[in-house]
Amino acid sequence: MKNKRILSGIQPSGKVHIGNYFGMMKQMIDLQNDNELLCFIPNYHALTSQNFGENLSYNTLDTAANFLSLGLNPDKSIFWVQSDIPEVAELNWILSNFVSVSSLERSTSYKDKISKGLKPNHGLFSYPILMAADILLFGAEVVPVGKDQKQHLEITRDIVSKFNSVFGDLLIKPKPLITELTGLVLGTDGQKMSKSYNNCLEIFCDKDELSKKIMRIKTDNSQLDQPKKTVGNPLFEIYCLFLNEKEKIDLEKRFKTPGLRYSDIKNELIETFWSYFSLARERKKTIFSDKDLIIKILKDGSKKAKELSSPIINRIRKKTGLNYLN
Ligand code: ADP
Ligand code: TRP
Repeated sequence: MKNKRILSGIQPSGKVHIGNYFGMMKQMIDLQNDNELLCFIPNYHALTSQNFGENLSYNTLDTAANFLSLGLNPDKSIFWVQSDIPEVAELNWILSNFVSVSSLERSTSYKDKISKGLKPNHGLFSYPILMAADILLFGAEVVPVGKDQKQHLEITRDIVSKFNSVFGDLLIKPKPLITELTGLVLGTDGQKMSKSYNNCLEIFCDKDELSKKIMRIKTDNSQLDQPKKTVGNPLFEIYCLFLNEKEKIDLEKRFKTPGLRYSDIKNELIETFWSYFSLARERKKTIFSDKDLIIKILKDGSKKAKELSSPIINRIRKKTGLNYLN
């Protein structure tokens, strides 16, 4: 993909795991060389999971440091915090008039969060509209996300169709970029890896904690002399994330050959994981020790992002009649 306007964001909700990295962050980092890359931290969205106060401000800088440590380059991208461009809340309100309540009620992410005990407040309910505003305010063409965000992108695309049918081709209809192999990273229990399921392998945890979690990856009880399952086997699928094509074929052969011990594979995975992120771990120490620099990067980013969003929101204000001056 070349010369597209690409946008995505990751909530400042605490720890970052390999589902976030392989599902979304790595796509963004890989695309920054040949595209116009816009990356932001949706801190308004974080309020929907009751993430307030000092915790939120700490997590915002921590999340920024994580992305920078993993390879986001502020010289090749625009990186900012959502609330530094409050026009997104204005656009959220405008767009909310182009979304049916029933489409929000069908949101699986909303239903999922409620089933996990989050209060069904209005912020959580209208979460996909704010996400649409994030994307449309900047005219993004491509949005890299994990599979779980697909439905949100469909809501955004519906909003564009409805809005443009009234006002002409004002908004750009974005396409999701969901990678087949990494769009759904399994957790240690074999379900989707997610902060809310306690099944994550976190990138910046210490080695003891990582080892314990990898040792707990769920395996079936096939005998030593039996070939092992690969598809749907979280140990195999997680390990493959770190391998090239040839290494994956070799690993598959080992799983299919009787005699493989899951504990040996787990020990290998610990070392592979640990060295894969060693550079990021080193960078994180340096970057997080200089909060002023992180803040400067984000503030510079918000200025650049505003240059992109201002003409778009101005056109929307004019077309909708909110700007009554001329
Ligand atoms: P979580 O589900 O852990 O709270 P987020 O909702 O903060 O994660 O997700 C941030 C980004 O990472 C999104 O683009 C999301 O689609 C992606 N993502 C999260 N979990 C996974 C996963 N298990 N596999 C692939 N992508 C994921
Ligand atoms: N909903 C996304 C998540 O939970 C975060 C997000 C908010 C986002 N606004 C966005 C992602 C706009 C892509 C584009 O991960």
